[in-house]
Amino acid sequence: MASALSPHQEIQELRDQLRHHEYLYYVEDSPELTDAQYDALMNRLKRLEEKHPELVAADSPSQRVGGKPKDGFVKMPHSRPMLSLDNAYNEEELRAWDQRVRDALPSTESVRYVCELKLDGLSLALQYSPGAHGTAHLERGLTRGDGSIGEDVTSNVRTIRSVPLSISVEKLKAAGLPQSFEVRGEVVLPQSAFVKLNEEREAAGQAPAANPRNAAAGTIRTLEPNIVAQRRLDFYAYFLLRDGEFLLPQQSTTLDALKTSGFRVNKYAKTLKSIDEVVTFIADAEPLRDTLGYEIDGVVIKVDATAQQRRLGFTGKAPRWAIAYKFAARAGITKLEDVLFQVGRTGKVTPVAALAPVSIGGTTVTRATLHNADEIARLGVRLGDYVQVERGGDVIPKIVEVVDDKTHPRGTTEIVFPKLCPECGSALVRADGEVDWRCVNASCPARVREELLHFAARSVMNIEGLGDAMVAQLLVAGYVKGIADLYWLTKQQLLKLERVGDKSAQALLDEIEGSKSASLARVLLGLGLRFVGERTAQLLAAHFGSMDALMAASAEELEAVNEVGPRVSQAILEFFGEAKNKELVERLRAAGLTFTAEKRTTTTTLDGLTFVLTGTLPNLTRESAKEKIESAGGRVSGSVSKKTSYVVAGEEAGSKLDRANSLGVAVLDEAGLLKLLEKESPTG
Ligand code: IVH
Repeated sequence: MASALSPHQEIQELRDQLRHHEYLYYVEDSPELTDAQYDALMNRLKRLEEKHPELVAADSPSQRVGGKPKDGFVKMPHSRPMLSLDNAYNEEELRAWDQRVRDALPSTESVRYVCELKLDGLSLALQYSPGAHGTAHLERGLTRGDGSIGEDVTSNVRTIRSVPLSISVEKLKAAGLPQSFEVRGEVVLPQSAFVKLNEEREAAGQAPAANPRNAAAGTIRTLEPNIVAQRRLDFYAYFLLRDGEFLLPQQSTTLDALKTSGFRVNKYAKTLKSIDEVVTFIADAEPLRDTLGYEIDGVVIKVDATAQQRRLGFTGKAPRWAIAYKFAARAGITKLEDVLFQVGRTGKVTPVAALAPVSIGGTTVTRATLHNADEIARLGVRLGDYVQVERGGDVIPKIVEVVDDKTHPRGTTEIVFPKLCPECGSALVRADGEVDWRCVNASCPARVREELLHFAARSVMNIEGLGDAMVAQLLVAGYVKGIADLYWLTKQQLLKLERVGDKSAQALLDEIEGSKSASLARVLLGLGLRFVGERTAQLLAAHFGSMDALMAASAEELEAVNEVGPRVSQAILEFFGEAKNKELVERLRAAGLTFTAEKRTTTTTLDGLTFVLTGTLPNLTRESAKEKIESAGGRVSGSVSKKTSYVVAGEEAGSKLDRANSLGVAVLDEAGLLKLLEKESPTG
């Protein structure tokens, strides 16, 4: 069959099939293909597209991972502010809210509520605009940001498979949608992906993400779309807007339309006729927490009818027509049996509580973090105490309080924070103004071990086969004392280690060899500079373009990089100021590491934004405001249209302001403009 089709037709066909199967998999949760079958279709499409580059289209399922945002994200105004919700913590508060809602509406009207799970992620706005042949295509994805202005994370949003890149005419018709609209919803990181990510982070000697929400937030702001694609974020849609207004007259029909048009909608949503039914819904929802595979922290209750919502309006930052019922954190009580002191890559000593096993929300907990010495003092906790342990969205549980702490029963003993490094015995040091105790012995075996593991980790230099066991053997044998030594390992040496045969020795050497072409950003991350995480490493690499340029940079030059402030610049200067670190870089270079980076093009973060100035500003002249906007990369135009990003309005602003309001264009005053510019300023 396939051979009878032209390449163009076959490509179309494959795309349609892939989209259909993505929909079945990600939205309907009922896949019809095995992963291997899906991959085979995708590979066929990719091969055809490679052969016929002129046929590649941005909305092809093969194009989820595309270009990277080089220099941070562009800020964009929302079509309508993204608000937060007021909370209710118990039934009484919930019923009081219901009463307020009904009091505010004519007594003749009945109120229906839509209950949705409150997904513990972060909200996103997806803007769709007309694509080819009557379709709608994903134009932009924005984070919530400060509610008025979000960050353009489109390249990352595109990697989320439950976000349709384009929507067919048929689906738009079936759902009653125009070609331009906006979808809002929640992006979440499934628990399984979260656990995997934290395992990787831990192997890399990085602090684990505290909870899936933080991990999702970090991921969506990562500058490498291919990393985002690996993390398996998921998106659940709940709002549908057009020109900043709700498109449909009910929340319930909105959810239906979203589903029909191909978005993933959480299946537990329900339309209910009374607050009693809502109370039942909440009671039924709470036990779901441990079965869903993603975190929820409550139930969101929304007035169904958009017309009623409009009459109820807003208070401050939250709508009156919706409320979040928050579940209590999951907690348990258990005994603190021991405290372990772990030495990390940077020498930081972290106390970890060893607990008598306790089941909290379906998980057996035996460890909790105690953070640092101050936290132990704050809690007043002693060995043998019974402690209240909480597990929120946090997978690392924490001790929240000592139970019955006034009368320490006999048998409890003080937790003594060690004065000496538990691994190498050198004196621990606590710098002025810091809470952490550190082992400052750079050759402390614990530190070297963690450094090597960090360097080899998948998200860093990605050297497979260099895990705990191998690193331990290499250290014991004395073959490596630091990361550069990896590049001088020989096969003879490896063959002397336990459980290493010719094949695995060669495999490890190949992996190490392969890591020589790792990007500058990864090498920087691998060097383990303080405060230089994945994102900062990427920004630095893009900005300086070479290791030498970075090493030669002054504080001022470093702080010219987006998101680099004095603390980070200081740490970088200190690091490269040390002879042994310079030597390390030289040894890596001598080993053949290439430190390759693409230098960024000159995109500043107001790029793509259009401003209209109107009225008299309190301090700035029209000319100086214009100059400031333009030097940050923005454009100033004379007339307001739907494409205008912001209208900056001062005293006696006239028709331009009215037009902005009627088009839903964001309006700033002078202070707002300065704030926006400040956010763009590299040192800010
Ligand atoms: S409605 C003004 N629905 O909860 C309307 N929000 O605490 C606000 N959230 O910022 C959004 N699940 O990030 C809505 N089904 C749901 C939600 C949900 C999670 C988040 C959202 C919002 C926060 C407010």
